[in-house]
Amino acid sequence: MKIAIASDHAAVEMRTTLAQHLREAGHDVTDLGCPDEQSVDYPQYAEAVARAVSGGAAERGVALCGTGIGMSMAANKVPGVRAALVCDPFTTRMSREHNDANVLCMGARVIETETAWQLLQLWLETEFAGDRHARRVEQINQLDTSPNRPA
Ligand code: RB5
Repeated sequence: MKIAIASDHAAVEMRTTLAQHLREAGHDVTDLGCPDEQSVDYPQYAEAVARAVSGGAAERGVALCGTGIGMSMAANKVPGVRAALVCDPFTTRMSREHNDANVLCMGARVIETETAWQLLQLWLETEFAGDRHARRVEQINQLDTSPNRPA
């Protein structure tokens, strides 16, 4: 699978390790930074992953920061992106089965890198369940172009 990955300074070690594991597992990984542990602004790295996914350069994205919160907020501003912040197996599985998440966000100050790798593998292998969830995901997608639809 083509996977874009990025982090801010808070998750460099996690990103580097996950990118290596993904490559060893046979994935085509594009590492979009950041360069090192010097402080950077996470929205720029979230945008890079999100645009890679929305533009089709990557099938999935992984966006990491201290909590994963900022990355998920920023990534979800890009049309076509459904970024999910997860920290355990249940939310990870649900983000795929129910929400068809295409960007996975995690926090390096929240979970250990080994846990993040376990969650990432689970996320990549879990299929979208479709059916009634497809209708709901389509309603999410419509918000990209109809943000002011009356209630
Ligand atoms: C950086 O200190 C921190 O704010 C960032 O990594 C992330 O947690 C933002 O949501």
